[in-house]
Amino acid sequence: MIVDLVLGNAKAYIDNEIVDCSLAIEEGKIFKIGKKKLMPKAETKIDLKNLLVLPGLIDAHVHLRDEGKAYKEDFYSGTAAAAAGGITTVLDMPNNNPVTMTTETLRTRMKIAERKVLVNVGFYSEFPKNTKEIQEIIREGAVAFKLYMAEQVGGLNIDDDHALVEASKIVSGLKVPVAVHAEDKTMVKRAEEELKRANHNDVEAFLKAHSESVEVKAVKRLLDIAKQTGVHVHFCHTSTENGLKVIVDAKKSGMSITCETTPHNLFLSVDELRRIGTLALTMPPVREKRHIAALWNGIKNSWIDILASDHAPHTLGEKKAKLVWDVKVGIPGLETTLPLLLTEVKCGRLSITHIVRLMSEKPAEIFKLKGKGHLKEGNNADLVVVDLDRKYKMDASQFHSKAKYSPFDGWNVEGKPVKTFVNGRLVMDEGEIVAEAGSGGIIRRG
Ligand code: DOR
Ligand code: ZN
Ligand code: ZN
Repeated sequence: MIVDLVLGNAKAYIDNEIVDCSLAIEEGKIFKIGKKKLMPKAETKIDLKNLLVLPGLIDAHVHLRDEGKAYKEDFYSGTAAAAAGGITTVLDMPNNNPVTMTTETLRTRMKIAERKVLVNVGFYSEFPKNTKEIQEIIREGAVAFKLYMAEQVGGLNIDDDHALVEASKIVSGLKVPVAVHAEDKTMVKRAEEELKRANHNDVEAFLKAHSESVEVKAVKRLLDIAKQTGVHVHFCHTSTENGLKVIVDAKKSGMSITCETTPHNLFLSVDELRRIGTLALTMPPVREKRHIAALWNGIKNSWIDILASDHAPHTLGEKKAKLVWDVKVGIPGLETTLPLLLTEVKCGRLSITHIVRLMSEKPAEIFKLKGKGHLKEGNNADLVVVDLDRKYKMDASQFHSKAKYSPFDGWNVEGKPVKTFVNGRLVMDEGEIVAEAGSGGIIRRG
């Protein structure tokens, strides 16, 4: 037998260990893992001496935009950024134009994506106004629902607890998770109005409006709904000490909930935000040191289930405005996440096990992505090859994303994704995209 590809002389992360091995790949799947002499003949052989193969990263929180927001990012540029960052699967957020919240918007989105994507893409849907449509949206292939509590984005009235409970019951029955942006809209709006009236329109005012208690309030509200309905709530970008504490207490009480945090919440504090300005503005924002310490502690204790970039690209123009309230919030993160994490492996704050668990195994488990998350025979050949010794400066001007800025621009890092394989195909090689648009895959639930 002649397989498509053999990756030889590698070190690979298999069953929680880094082992010397070779990998044979056939028809997009991992065909065999073993000693070099046991490998079948191959059409193509790539020698990976001194390089480490990890299961491709899964970024469960990405705003790929396209459609009415294609000027910020599109399926090609966004998935090129993912491939460049060693990420082989992304889950796309629904706050698009049009908002993804019907079978039709979802179908259209998948169709547009199909021709453009370079990695695997799964889709969130927002909640439709008519909860009867929830099941159809899942049947159409959405991997999960997104519930945005900071503003009204979807069709379901977020001020209406009864509606939230009804929707959650249905989703719970379908065994689909609901990813929640936990910031209480009423609290934010009230604070915002007061601050505006007092003529406070800067970054400090934004931080006041998006306080810790805003997160805690929304987390508690969702935990209440989860208790009533059994729905699996996944808390996006957990950013505060007390937000995390409430989540952890609920976990300890046996609730089936999960949470994520972001690299920007782990690596940036309000000091950087003040220095960099609105370019680093996100929602929820980066925080004071005590929150950062709490999040790192959450990683250490495995209370935080996953890391996700919350890649939220905007134009440079949109990142600046006279009033902070008019600044578009969000930063691109697909191309900085893995280098930042690998650098922490060098300094000993993280291990490769952490990275694989937080960005491959756990996201695959939470979002039920079959054949992903682990390097094992029969699984999809989604792999990232990293060079742990490569030292360099991150350069946002070289991003594949349309958003060519980053609060991490110019940071010195150690560890680089050098090759990304998606379904057995080499997509990124030394920073270059070497596959064609549309060579990635669309993930449909079920
Ligand atoms: O920073 C953010 N950016 N927070 C959000 O809630 C939305 C996101 C976006 O879509 O730009
Ligand atoms: Zn969010
Ligand atoms: Zn987001």
